[in-house]
Amino acid sequence: MNYQHRTNDLEAFWMPFSANRQFKKAPRMLVSADRMHYRTDDGRSVLDGTAGLWCCNAGHNRPKIVEAIRAQAGELDYAPAFQMGHPKVFEFASKVVNIAPEGFDHVFFTNSGSESVETALKMAVAYHRVKGNGSKFRLIGRERGYHGVNFGGISVGGIVSNRKMFGTLLTGVDHIRHTHDLARNAFTRGEPEHGADLADDLERLVTLHDASTIAAVIVEPVAGSTGVLIPPKGYLQRLRAICDKHDILLIFDEVITGFGRLGTPFATDYFGVSPDIIVTAKGITNGVIPMGGVFVKSKIHDAFMNGPEHLIEFFHGYTYSGNPIACAAGLGTLETYKEDGLLTRGAELAPYWEDALQSLKGLPHVIDVRNIGLIGAIELESIPGEPTKRAFSCFLDAFERGILIRTTGDIIALSPPLIISKAEIDQLIGTLAQVLKDSI
Ligand SMILES: Cc1ncc(COP(=O)(O)O)c(C=O)c1O
Repeated sequence: MNYQHRTNDLEAFWMPFSANRQFKKAPRMLVSADRMHYRTDDGRSVLDGTAGLWCCNAGHNRPKIVEAIRAQAGELDYAPAFQMGHPKVFEFASKVVNIAPEGFDHVFFTNSGSESVETALKMAVAYHRVKGNGSKFRLIGRERGYHGVNFGGISVGGIVSNRKMFGTLLTGVDHIRHTHDLARNAFTRGEPEHGADLADDLERLVTLHDASTIAAVIVEPVAGSTGVLIPPKGYLQRLRAICDKHDILLIFDEVITGFGRLGTPFATDYFGVSPDIIVTAKGITNGVIPMGGVFVKSKIHDAFMNGPEHLIEFFHGYTYSGNPIACAAGLGTLETYKEDGLLTRGAELAPYWEDALQSLKGLPHVIDVRNIGLIGAIELESIPGEPTKRAFSCFLDAFERGILIRTTGDIIALSPPLIISKAEIDQLIGTLAQVLKDSI
């Protein structure tokens, strides 16, 4: 055998959603983290403006979570997820449905947002079938939507670069229009005034396909990965009403909005619109151990609990669904959220956050600033012929100056840990202002 003895070779690891060649020429390495800060391999402290990837809502290195993981690893490392149980998964399920929006009494565990999306889509189609409506199979997404990277998720998703390389995708999928409208809504604080009528686009698809073929509509209540699109006032209510009218399930993808991001436990609570299925991940374990959860109402769950009792009711699940260590991390996370009041802290900070963000209006190339809860986005005018270059150079410059931001296209997105202080908001936005002033 010809073993190659490589150590610390940057080539072996094919990095996800990254400019690999650019990174490997000038690596940005994070080696430790505590609360609001990362530390780099050259000893610099970097303020986390993105809660990792929208997931470390309680910040980093939280003792309750770290200790729970450590203890669980020494007690029960793994138990088969199928046809067997262990106490932590039932404990975590009971506790996490307690903070879920009213009526969401059941949770199905996965290992990521992408898996939660696939699970929800399959549940929706299967639900209609077990109810005797097998012709309702069609899935509706929205332009610019992001629902992870598996085939179902990219099919209902609406981000072209995530779709165009991957062939025909899932059949039986269509999309309603996105809600982004800079001409009418630029620099809106919170929910935009214009665009509730875009929900009526679902009626167009009902006319085209007939409601008898449509199983579900999936949307992010606040679209994140496409660059933060906040729903216009009344939009989600209208979508709910149209779904009710046609017996179409409404799925909210709350992978980023779940667990306190908007200042309420879920976006469902924030907007007062109740879907049929809620997709979550990320903040469910504070991003520390991979986990996702799909919350459903009893009407969905109970529809499956039919037939002979020795038979499996839903032919779906993952080896690591409800993994003991993930459940322990989830329990530690819920305790941390409770102790620090994090599921609602965003509401107190949101006005300060909004004023800080909106102060960026008027800086070079800034064509929109939008915010809701503890989410913010700054949209930049693209360099002609070189989309994404301006925002990416801001990201690199920001990292040099000690703040971690995230960019998608020419939009900068911010979503700090929910423990951020006002002084840290000032530092984050103040540094970003300098970055923008000096941007290419
Ligand atoms: C709304 C939404 N859905 C799904 C996902 C996919 O989650 P994961 O990367 O854990 O598969 C994300 C990730 O950012 C997301 O923002």
